[in-house]
Amino acid sequence: MMNYIVVASIMETPQHESVTIDVHRVNESSNFAVLTINRPEKLNALNQDVMAALVDYTQFIEHRDDIRCVVVTGAKPLPAEEGKRAKPNAFVAGADITEFVDKTSQDRPIFPMNGWEALWNLSKPTIAMVDGFALGGGCEIACSCDLRIASTRSKFGTPEINLGLIPGGGGTQRLASLIGYGKTMEMVYTGEMIGAEEAKAIGLVNHVLEPDDLEEFTFSIASTIASKSSHTLSIAKKVIRAALDESISQGIKIEEDEFALLFDTEDKNIGVQAFLSRTEPNWKHK
Ligand code: COA
Repeated sequence: MMNYIVVASIMETPQHESVTIDVHRVNESSNFAVLTINRPEKLNALNQDVMAALVDYTQFIEHRDDIRCVVVTGAKPLPAEEGKRAKPNAFVAGADITEFVDKTSQDRPIFPMNGWEALWNLSKPTIAMVDGFALGGGCEIACSCDLRIASTRSKFGTPEINLGLIPGGGGTQRLASLIGYGKTMEMVYTGEMIGAEEAKAIGLVNHVLEPDDLEEFTFSIASTIASKSSHTLSIAKKVIRAALDESISQGIKIEEDEFALLFDTEDKNIGVQAFLSRTEPNWKHK
């Protein structure tokens, strides 16, 4: 079992109680960060502080050269208070519904700090590590990440229809690009939850693990990604994203251009030489 040492809990950024950042060391120059949404008593629901934290912390991570991959997760439930039932496991059970009371379209943007877009726009690879409910805005946080890895007890859904609403954090668009038009319609129209295995079968989730194996597996993928050239990773992310925003012929043109430009980078020479000399590449990340 690999041991990923927490080398820092970030204190240099604006502080938000509801999200923590831990930095895990992969090697001397590479780390991955774990963002934990930490409101377990409210199933990690997204309030304004969580949103502000996601915006602030993603900006911070964007500029930290040593952080090469980001894992986003929800805090585990606290032990049950005496005489009360334990809260269930949650990734994020949606936007904090208490903040919807009295809001009208005059309050637009409804989410002044947009955590979904902040995650989506991060140039570095992101992984949602889901253990429990990923509903509404929580399902959208997962969809704003590049990969989704879930435990067997996870449940995904877009229950906004039951509140007289629709997904508002990019969900209609990002979900449709992941699972297709028909499945998105079904999830949004019915508001019903699906289990992790079904989520995997329809392409919403990359891997499903037993809860006890989830962190080890996710951190191992994060560590593998963090050991690559961060420059090459950012180009891969940009070019794959073009598949969502551009026509296929335009996307192929973008790929061709970016592929050619990588031939001018130090990391292409380092990677090719490492292969030929059967050594490990020592990336310069440029
Ligand atoms: N916003 C605000 N609070 C939320 C929340 C949300 N999205 N989801 C859960 N909570 C709170 C509950 O109000 C409860 O708080 P309390 O203990 O102070 O009363 C606490 O989290 C635990 O949730 P609870 O409903 O008691 O757990 P449960 O096991 O009975 O049900 C869910 C779990 C996920 C099925 C249920 O909480 C739920 O349906 N949540 C809302 C999901 C949703 O509609 N999300 C989309 C929002 S746009």
